[in-house]
Amino acid sequence: MTGEVHPDISPLAFLLGTWQGTGHGDYPTIDSFDYGEEVQFSHVGKPFLVYRQRTWALPDRAPLHSETGYFRSGGDGAVELVLAQPSGIVEVHTGRLNGTTIDLRTTGVALTPTAKEVVGVGRRLEVDGRVLHYRLDMEAVGEAYQFHLEAELHRVGEEG
Ligand code: HEM
Repeated sequence: MTGEVHPDISPLAFLLGTWQGTGHGDYPTIDSFDYGEEVQFSHVGKPFLVYRQRTWALPDRAPLHSETGYFRSGGDGAVELVLAQPSGIVEVHTGRLNGTTIDLRTTGVALTPTAKEVVGVGRRLEVDGRVLHYRLDMEAVGEAYQFHLEAELHRVGEEG
């Protein structure tokens, strides 16, 4: 954390901190699963929030998905997100902030040659006090756009 939050991203400052919790995942092509998750939002005084996420399988705690990226503001409630994943996927999103709810949809997904085929992703993050709930839908591996994940995380650290 470095100095004051940049004014461009002050509308997103409610995300700052560390969040932990559990989620549930499903898709027509896979077995449904439960996972644990930790998310950190931080800033360096510049006009973006740094986002780091890691997940683990439950109950055995084996590492699952992780991702890292940057939330930016386009002004007037516009939100932008760039995100990279070790599974060879890069997501670029635009969306809207409404109160403490952010709705994002990809404008582009880039894939390395060995990545699973992901065509589009939608993400909704909702913060209510010390609880962050998100839902992720995707169009992937030949299936229509639909649910993949949802999780409920609780604030465990301030502006970490
Ligand atoms: C909390 C984050 C996530 C977790 C815990 C998670 C977990 C999983 C698990 C356990 C599977 C099934 C086993 C496997 O194929 O590895 C899976 C499959 C998959 N996930 Fe996720 N995932 C997450 C995020 C994402 C994101 C962000 C995307 C796309 C951008 C994505 C795309 C896929 C795809 C394409 C498959 C493969 C489906 C198939 O091969 O039929 N996942 N995920």
